[in-house]
Order: sequence, then structure tokens, then C-alpha cells
Amino acid sequence: MSVIDLRGAEGFSADPYPHYAKLRAEGPAHQVRTDDFERVWMVVGYEEARSALADQRFSKDWRTTEQFSASSNAINANMLELDAPRHTRLRKLVSREFTARRIESLRPRVEQITEDLLDAMVPTGSADLVDAFAFPLPMTVICELLGVPDIDRDVFRALSNAIVTPVSPEKENEAVDAMGAYLDALVEDKRRAPGDDLMSALIQANDEDGDRLSPDELIGMAFLLLVAGHETTVNLIANGVRALLDHPEQLALLRARPELIDGAVEEMLRYDGPVATATFRFTREPVPVGPVVIPKGEAVLVALGSGDRDPDRYPDPDTFDIRREAQGHLAFGHGIHFCLGAPLARMEGRIAIRALLERCPGLVRDPDGGEPDWLPGMLLRGVRHLPVRW
Ligand code: HEM
Repeated sequence: MSVIDLRGAEGFSADPYPHYAKLRAEGPAHQVRTDDFERVWMVVGYEEARSALADQRFSKDWRTTEQFSASSNAINANMLELDAPRHTRLRKLVSREFTARRIESLRPRVEQITEDLLDAMVPTGSADLVDAFAFPLPMTVICELLGVPDIDRDVFRALSNAIVTPVSPEKENEAVDAMGAYLDALVEDKRRAPGDDLMSALIQANDEDGDRLSPDELIGMAFLLLVAGHETTVNLIANGVRALLDHPEQLALLRARPELIDGAVEEMLRYDGPVATATFRFTREPVPVGPVVIPKGEAVLVALGSGDRDPDRYPDPDTFDIRREAQGHLAFGHGIHFCLGAPLARMEGRIAIRALLERCPGLVRDPDGGEPDWLPGMLLRGVRHLPVRW
């Protein structure tokens, strides 16, 4: 079977959706070449993507494959890189902190942080929406939740960016090592001065068998929550605002009927979600996907962004329509690794976009803002900067 070259494919970063559409038209799974990999499988159909995400024959553990060698850094000891039962144990330790009810109790604080950011931004008349709003909001929320409000955001953001949107394997490895050391120090500080927060609770946690999180597992958990807690939501806010600015009639509708915000955020997630492809999976055995069989030990990317534009699932999928039934989208994944932070991300996205439209009635792109700077790599979808005026 031939390998389809997506490396440097014309306009892929700016608009991957026509490329996904072409792939889908030829079948639900293909071998592709990406900027980072010579050959990797990609699942592009909605039904097949959803099934693959819930199929335990696709392992999340790097050790199931010889195709790539995983770094043994502590930050890899996190639930998103493990299968059951190790995944089950780690997820259970934090899942009660992320239930819809628990997250609802954070609403007043999320609203306050949103208002404070807008109080600082609005008088300036123009800003990079990513730097002034979309990044600091989720970063502040997740740092407060974990109990590390004073984290050095610039250092952390640079390391985090270098890992999730890497520009080279060398830079990524350097960042992984530096992140491990940074979080190790952070956990040590917390151990010395515990508080009434999630990180302190995790340090003290015992699971039912009485065994504690190992030092590596603690670092892995802190890494996953801090990185997943902001790298994605920043792009929900920025991609959502971009979609509105590109579709003035939808923007006008949402301004006129702000109560449509919940459905609008679901459509933003479906139409241009923050996570373009789920994290790597590896076949434990040969797995048929549509007409092809993915052999054992292969690396697989499930293209969430493609599944969510599959016309067999969503009629007229390239139309951004905040009133459509977007439910069932794959933006938060599916199966046992379904996004733990989905209730928090939804709440942040709804509060942020609604408040932004209220406070900035004349919001437009900054005409002097230059060309968009797209995030590199296959994992995340978004822009580094979003210059706007109001
Ligand atoms: C709009 C924002 C977000 C999006 C689109 C998103 C998307 C996703 C996706 C697609 C996955 C599954 C990845 C896979 O199966 O390979 C995932 C997992 C995860 N997300 Fe999110 N996420 C968002 C926000 C958050 C937030 C705010 C947190 C906060 C803590 C978070 C924590 C996690 C964790 C811990 C996992 C791993 C769950 C597991 O392995 O069981 N996410 N997310």
C-alpha cells in the first residue's frame, strides 16, 4: 500500500481539511508521511476513528511497539501513555476532582479571572488575543487548581510548547528533560509546604490498595494536568474566535442570542477543534479498519479533525453553524482516555467567549496583524498569535 505524503503538503498547516477530505474519499485509513514521521497510519473516517479510540487493540503504551523508542523521562509516566489497569488506577485518583459538579464549583473563580483579564485588556483597544486572554485564562485556572499559582509561566509555557508543538526531536528531548527537572522541584516544594489543593492531595493520596503515587507518577500527573489543562483550551478560545470572525453572520447571531453559547462552543470544537490528531496509539495485533488491515506493532494517529468533518456523520461538514447538532464530536476523544478536563474546558470556553463578545462589541481581526503563525506538528491545531482590535 502506498504512503501518502503529507510532508510539506500545500497549505496543510493553514487548512488541513481539504487534505483530510481527499484521504477520506479514498478510504478510512491510510499510511502517511508527516513532517515528523516517515510512515505512520492515519484513521480519517468518523466511525472508524471513534471505534479505534475505544478499541483496546490500540495500545497507548510506547513499550508495545519497536517502531519508536520512548523516552524514559518521568513525565511519560502519565495516564495518557498507559493502558488499563495502570491507566485505571491513575485516572481514578483524580477523576473525582473533575466531575461536572466539582468543576461547576469553580465557576465564580473562572468568571473572576476572565473579568480581570478583560479589565486589563479592553482599555488597550487592540491586543494579541492569545497572549492577553486565551493563554492566561486556562493557565491561571489549572495552576490554581493544582496549587501552583506562582509557577514561572514564561519558563513553563516555553517548555510546554517545545514538547507539544516540537520544532525538532532534539529540542523536544531537551525540553522533556528540563520539564522533568522543573516539575520535580515543584513537587518537592509542595511536599515541604502542602496546601488545600490538588497537588498536595495527590502527594498524600493512597489508592485502595494503599500504594501511593510514585515520584515519577506524581511528576507525570503534574505534567499531564498542567499541559493538557492549557495547551488545548487556549486553542479552543482562539480557534473559536477565529471561526466567529470568519463567519460574521454566525458572530452576529451569537451576539444577538448569547444563550446559544453552549451549542456554539460544541460547534467550535467540531469545526476546528484544538486537538487535530489524538496522541499515538500502537496496534497490539493486526486490526482491520475498513478495507485495510493495520499490522501489529504499527503507530496510528486518529485524526479527530478529519472525523469531525466526515459528511457521513455531519451533513455539510465544512459549514460553521452554531445551531447545528454538533454533539458526538471527537474533539475530546472517546473511550477510556476521553478528556478528563472536558467539563472544565467547556466551562472556560463558554465563559471566555461570551464575556469577550460582551466586553468587545466591535471585535475584528487587526488588519496590520500579518499572516497567521500556525502551530507546527500534527497534534495541535491553532495559531501562536491572534491580533485583534475592538
Ligand atoms: C478544549 C480543551 C481540550 C480539548 C480539546 C482536549 C482534548 C483531549 C483529547 C482529544 C484527549 C484524548 C487524547 C487521546 O486519546 O489520545 C484528552 C485527554 C486528556 N485531557 Fe483534555 N482536552 C482539553 C482540555 C483539558 C483540560 C482543561 C484538562 C485539565 C486538566 C485536560 C486533561 C486531560 C487529561 C488528563 C487527559 C488524559 C485522560 C486519560 O488518559 O484518561 N484536558 N483531552
